[in-house]
Amino acid sequence: MLSHARAVHSLSFARSSADGPKLESPPSPAGATEPSEGGNREVCGIIGYIGEREAVPILLEGLRRLEYRGYDSAGLAVQTGRGIVTRKLGGRVEGLATHLTRLPVHGTAGIAHTRWATHGAPTERNAHPHVDCQGQVALVHNGIIENSEALRAALERSGHRFYTETDTETLAHLIEEASGETLEARVIAALEHVEGTYGLAVISADEPDKIVVARRGSPVLLGIGNREFFVASDASAVLEHTRSVVYLDDGDVAVLTPRGYHVLDHDSQIQSRAVDAISWDLEALELGGYSHFMLKEIREQPETVQQTLRGRLLVDGYARLNGLNLPAEECTAIRRIVILACGTSWHAALVGRYLIEELARIPVVVEYASEYRHRTQLEVPGTLAIAISQSGETADTLEAMRVATKAGCRVLGIVNVVGSTIARQADGGIYLHAGPEIGVASTKAFTSQIVALALLALYLGRQRELSEDVARDLACRLSQLPDLIARTLELEPQILTIAERYAEAANVLYLGRGVNFPVALEGALKLKEISYIHAEGYPAAEMKHGPIALINPDMAVVCVAPHDDVYHKVVTNMQEVKARGGQIIAVTTAGRASVGGLAAHELRVPSTSPLLSPVLTVIPLQLLAYHIAVLRGCDVDRPRNLAKSVTVE
Ligand code: AGP
Repeated sequence: MLSHARAVHSLSFARSSADGPKLESPPSPAGATEPSEGGNREVCGIIGYIGEREAVPILLEGLRRLEYRGYDSAGLAVQTGRGIVTRKLGGRVEGLATHLTRLPVHGTAGIAHTRWATHGAPTERNAHPHVDCQGQVALVHNGIIENSEALRAALERSGHRFYTETDTETLAHLIEEASGETLEARVIAALEHVEGTYGLAVISADEPDKIVVARRGSPVLLGIGNREFFVASDASAVLEHTRSVVYLDDGDVAVLTPRGYHVLDHDSQIQSRAVDAISWDLEALELGGYSHFMLKEIREQPETVQQTLRGRLLVDGYARLNGLNLPAEECTAIRRIVILACGTSWHAALVGRYLIEELARIPVVVEYASEYRHRTQLEVPGTLAIAISQSGETADTLEAMRVATKAGCRVLGIVNVVGSTIARQADGGIYLHAGPEIGVASTKAFTSQIVALALLALYLGRQRELSEDVARDLACRLSQLPDLIARTLELEPQILTIAERYAEAANVLYLGRGVNFPVALEGALKLKEISYIHAEGYPAAEMKHGPIALINPDMAVVCVAPHDDVYHKVVTNMQEVKARGGQIIAVTTAGRASVGGLAAHELRVPSTSPLLSPVLTVIPLQLLAYHIAVLRGCDVDRPRNLAKSVTVE
């Protein structure tokens, strides 16, 4: 059995000591109740400010930065010196901003929220902040109160009047009901009764110079400024004001005042928490002249893949992954790997399977995290679990990690967001360093996830039987990827022409084989989630067993066919599509044989190692989905019904 040093977490699967100090997060305070199994969580963004400046402009800008987390409704509550004033509306943050220009609110302390509705319709009434009976306590919440109905019934019996359908409103009344000298004492007392998850910020008219913050299960950080302090769901909302952040742990309760902040545990004992520095710049959060974050992030991939590689490729084909926390002797003891992920990260995991099985000769199973957790766990000794997540907050993946841990697995994380919950709970891992990904449709994280998996396969392979020659060759190919991606992006004008041709398509089929089957899945997902066109990714050979019935002269069929050992088989599948009149858009390898008249459109990507070809073949599919969605007038960065990190189960 692989030993797993779970006692002491390391936040820092950073790259190398040059990347700054390793942050040690102290073990969770004894007795802190972990989020109960199967707890659901709202996907929202919270922000709070206390200091000397006008709060509203800061809160609104913070909400704009957090809107990718949910955009069903928005609201804020401000200490005006004459009590708390709340403003909230259904719909986007801009609606709230316009409302506030008509009905301005002034004060130097406040909290705000943007929502992705789970409990209670996305209406103004259910928008946060929620208040108690007297409007003396106001709070914003990200998470879910599992026993809200029972609490509500008890509170209604003792005379509290509820105004909304939400679980969150229960907290405001619980705090109103709780006894304690201070707001933080009342919050701690109230949370004793709560089952579920929360990232929340609370203000009270009785103590206008204070914001109380609490975390269990949902991400919350503090922003430490000069005589001003912030609370937020993620760093993007505070970066404009400070780089210094404190990631709260489960069970933490923090108190912010204009003069300073402190962190308590649920016994009101002061806790010390490390102050971390956000590594990326504000530009990363700006559109930078692009019309959409998705396009910016697609075009950033030469740099972001370079970032993921930086300092990790060694001369003799070894990979340096300091944060992995997986010593050589443990690498040789691995008998099996199970990868846990959702959505695009799951597609990257499928590519990772080919890389690890080929280079490290370890059998790999790729699991939908949401399904894995419901299966009887028969994990065999020597099983390593790997959780892949861009946001590091996906609830299904978090829960699957817990299940794998319980089954005795060591759990690594491949994560993009620094300080996120998955990064905190993993035994070690790899940060992508791809910078913040704002567009809801994941793009640059996918290519960086594949590169991180290739580095992991190299690392494991070199600790086992992988020859130096093969490793060196792959390391060389990896280092060439940023330039090859830049050349692939030059196909965009041709892709725009194809997008104009198929912008009104009703259905699109994506086919791929071997390591490029996951790319077909990813291409279909991108088109579905931002253009709302029905699309399916399929193993090319599987097409004959059903989907070929869908093919007719109106059907666009994207065939991912780089020159590798299955190329000729994919060409055969293309001939089967052509024979039924399907319109083929082929992605092939430049400088090799063309598919000629078989395809209506051929996009030729540069040649690279077959195992790494998904990093290049996916890019035309990202751009095709993007341009079709733009031509259809879709809100590319905030597609309907979606949220960037899905913290509901
Ligand atoms: C991809 O474009 C989607 N946003 C979604 O499928 C996403 O990949 C999935 O929710 C997993 O997110 P994660 O990588 O942050 O865990």
